[in-house]
Amino acid sequence: MALVRFVGHDDTWETDVSLGTTMLEAARACGAPEGDACGGVCACSTCHLYVTQGGDLLSEAEEDEEDILDKAFDVQITSRLGCQSIIEREGKIVATVSGESLDAYYNEHDDPDPRDG
Ligand code: FES
Repeated sequence: MALVRFVGHDDTWETDVSLGTTMLEAARACGAPEGDACGGVCACSTCHLYVTQGGDLLSEAEEDEEDILDKAFDVQITSRLGCQSIIEREGKIVATVSGESLDAYYNEHDDPDPRDG
């Protein structure tokens, strides 16, 4: 198992997941506001996360993921696509949901966007 914590605008969400779970699946499991406009098939960047802890517990980024991240907003060294990041080792992972991912999530869900104040 791995403990995954997502950090949003002003809240956090946590879940324990089995190895083999993607970060996007983990977000869904705990209700974290991570976008997924393409449905998790590596064709958008709305599941963009910053993995600030435990990045080495995840699968390596493949070329397809790197190509999509090249077109994402505010890419950092910690950037990953949630739908392409598979949890492969036990431990604790902390990821901040990117602004573009929060935008995509709140555009498609009725929950109020906490960034609106
Ligand atoms: S949900 Fe579209 S690339 Fe991950």
